[in-house]
Amino acid sequence: MLSTRSLFQEIYADDRAYQLFCSVAAGGEDQGGWENERITELTTDPVLAPKVARHGADERKHGRIFTQLLHKRGLEKVAIPPATDYCMLLERQGIGLSHDRLTSGTPLTEREVITYLAHSRVTEQRASEQMRQLVKAYADNPELDKAMRMISADEDNHLAYCHEELLRLTAEGHGPYVRHALESIARGEIRTHRDVGLAVMAELGRVLGWPRHQRLLLAAGLHALYLYDRLWGWRRMVSLRMPAKRNALG
Ligand SMILES: [Fe+2]
Ligand SMILES: [Fe+2]
Repeated sequence: MLSTRSLFQEIYADDRAYQLFCSVAAGGEDQGGWENERITELTTDPVLAPKVARHGADERKHGRIFTQLLHKRGLEKVAIPPATDYCMLLERQGIGLSHDRLTSGTPLTEREVITYLAHSRVTEQRASEQMRQLVKAYADNPELDKAMRMISADEDNHLAYCHEELLRLTAEGHGPYVRHALESIARGEIRTHRDVGLAVMAELGRVLGWPRHQRLLLAAGLHALYLYDRLWGWRRMVSLRMPAKRNALG
């Protein structure tokens, strides 16, 4: 029976699949780290800047963890196919702040700070859910269990921080723009999540030699998930509530 757990076991058991999986993960984390480092430089708010810096340091740490997991197996990070590059595909759709904007020296406007936080609110929701999935899938794996739990706890903190900061900005009168930013980013993200999921599954299917019916079943699952997100699931990505853990990145 095909389950998320058996899928991740199969990935772990195969060097090339594991190499692709860890390379995609490390690439996303490093990119997140770089973005937060740049945003730290461009943030003029002295209260927010250290939190963005902490966010960036956490993502860099996650990138190193996935790279080290590869090294433990005697493997190196590999270049990932462009269609599996979640961060790049989001940027191509105009979601979040562009590379050009982040490499410029001009401080961020208030609206750009909202864009950054809304982008993080949506993508950290995804990261938090995916890490919980990995924690469950690798709970019995002595090599991965501790690392997955640590990253998962960090992603939950990042999500809590985004909720809190966006609620602060809403209370300061930015509610309509916060709402607009969250909704437009969530719409693009769920589409990108589907496309990247399909691309990653196609690569894994090739590497692991999955039969056609298994590939079709997984693709159908991703399309169904997309439909659910479009119709209903997007709400969980745009809602704001004060987290139980306050000042998670303070
Ligand atoms: Fe991360
Ligand atoms: Fe994160």
